Amino acid sequence: MTDQNTPTPVIIDCDTGVDDALALLFAVRHPGLDLRAVTCVAGNTDVDGVVRNTLTVLERAGAPDVPVARGAERPLIEPARSARHVHGQDGMGDLGLPAPARGPVDVDAVTLLRREILGSPRPVTLIPTAPLTNIALLLRTHPEVTGNIERIVFMGGAVNTGNATAVAEFNVWHDPEAAAILLTAGVPITMYGLDVFTRVLVPGADIRRLRASTEPGARLAGELLAHRPAGAVPGAPDGDEPSGGLGDAGAVCAVADPAGLGTRRLPVEVSLAPGPARGQTIVDRRLRPGEAEIHGDMREQALVDVALDVDVERYVSLYLETVEGTGARGD
Ligand code: BDR
Ligand code: CA
Repeated sequence: MTDQNTPTPVIIDCDTGVDDALALLFAVRHPGLDLRAVTCVAGNTDVDGVVRNTLTVLERAGAPDVPVARGAERPLIEPARSARHVHGQDGMGDLGLPAPARGPVDVDAVTLLRREILGSPRPVTLIPTAPLTNIALLLRTHPEVTGNIERIVFMGGAVNTGNATAVAEFNVWHDPEAAAILLTAGVPITMYGLDVFTRVLVPGADIRRLRASTEPGARLAGELLAHRPAGAVPGAPDGDEPSGGLGDAGAVCAVADPAGLGTRRLPVEVSLAPGPARGQTIVDRRLRPGEAEIHGDMREQALVDVALDVDVERYVSLYLETVEGTGARGD
């Protein structure tokens, strides 16, 4: 729970990534969050591109001292499969941003995660917004870290429709075994999946205002949102101007303001079998046991707080007020 006087220590594990960049901008600027470190993993683009993009965003956000570490360059089993067709050749919208002035820390992501988690005086909230490879490696290499993890709020999975496949969401599909390890970590887990991820849209007029900002971080947020066009928001005073999805940034909003997210604690399992369902998060919403359980076919399943509803207005306002530092919206 965020306490205004004591910011929540958080670590973001990302594959920056247009919407990961939106998440970083928000995390750096929200007064209730203390961004202790950022770790990078292959996903939207190759891991070196992710490191470069992450460092550039943190510099633009005015947070050049947050430690950044390079992590896994491919999933546990399968080869890396980028999403450059969505995020651009540089993985971050091909905005022509400058190279960062500094490099990553000289330890790998798993080592930095362990150091920051165990070294934190308060339990840390982990926010993975990428394939879960680094987190799985951490949990298997240093399981003692779970003693100082408050909870994990991850962007990934879907109750209903997928995006990478008909049923699988990209972050889980990219490394299903890693996602399965995450779900059984033994700490409280919130799944911020596609069901809410796709709903949080910033109206076009707000994007226009951000793009015109003289403040570099707010302007970058506007450029990034313009790279994530969605339909016009019904009822918004901006005619047909396309809105832009907050994407991964919504998961960070959910840590800063949990009351904006509607969740249910449900059994979740990742489909690991080869074939059309690989990477699907199977969420059991049944109200009572079925024949499988009645006939003794019971398996241990992770219980996860699955996001089923989100207060879109609330998170869009929270995002804009935080990134613009104004507390004001409108044209
Ligand atoms: C997820 O996949 C990536 O492309 C986005 O950054 C987000 O984390 C959505 O499926
Ligand atoms: Ca991402």
